Amino acid sequence: MKNLISCEQLSKQDLKELFDLADVVRANPKKYSNALDGKVVTTLFFEPSTRTRLSFETAIERLGGKLISTENARENSSSTKGEILEDTISVVSGYSDAIVMRHSFNDAAERAARVSNIPIINAGSGKGEHPTQSLLDAYTIRNKKGRLDNLKIAILGDLVNGRTIHSLIKLFGLYENIEFYALSKENLALPEKYIKIIEDTGNKYYRCYSFDDIPKDVDIMYHTRIQAERSDEDLGKEQFIINKEVLDKFSDNTLVMHPLPRVDEISTDIDNDKRAIYFEQAHNGMWVRMALLLEVLE
Ligand code: NCD
Repeated sequence: MKNLISCEQLSKQDLKELFDLADVVRANPKKYSNALDGKVVTTLFFEPSTRTRLSFETAIERLGGKLISTENARENSSSTKGEILEDTISVVSGYSDAIVMRHSFNDAAERAARVSNIPIINAGSGKGEHPTQSLLDAYTIRNKKGRLDNLKIAILGDLVNGRTIHSLIKLFGLYENIEFYALSKENLALPEKYIKIIEDTGNKYYRCYSFDDIPKDVDIMYHTRIQAERSDEDLGKEQFIINKEVLDKFSDNTLVMHPLPRVDEISTDIDNDKRAIYFEQAHNGMWVRMALLLEVLE
């Protein structure tokens, strides 16, 4: 794997190898503590991030690589002086061995890959994609459910602007017999383009209007935050909140996931329920990103 720009470039085999490697690293992290000896990785985030940036950075450190970073590339890099993305990337690609980047443009990672002579890892591009989030989501589901085929997945929240949802739909296009149940406010319903991707990849799409429309034995409820910062309009508040009362209508095997940060779409009253796995999901990001860095850089 040279670049990771979109989930569209991944195969089932790539995912199997990556997740197997993440399991191996997790079982014996010491063995990999010098694996990136002599490598320098840049993290270049033009948008805020907690989990993605810090899990990549701890992954680099834990593999014995070196890190160069600018904490807030939008304000602390030459983009404030009017430098175009391509120029920033051309220069930074001479300083390090890979770039992990996040940007508000939907095509930022593609544009970067066009001019870079080192690997680009897309850590979130506008409303477009967030492929490494989907990798850790799928890794978490594989660990918990033991499979990635034959799943019922409810997707909730901001289905228009949420890049984690868009990447998840593409990634699960690789798997068989996936049923997506979409529950959102009217103004945040899944765009036609993504319904088409679900259907073209042989999976099923069902529009839901209340929690009652989601099957009780749904495997995953994947909620997302309303991406207020991505729209000039007021997108309003979340109507469909997962709390104890809602979760108790679902099966013991229904898992609640969220890329985080949550705002109010998941109530803290379910945090101690064994079905609420969003913190475990975030933690898995570190193992998956370690495996990804090994594949890209070794
Ligand atoms: C997500 C993102 O940046 O798209 N966060 C993350 O990386 N875990 C989700 C979000 O910001 O709502």
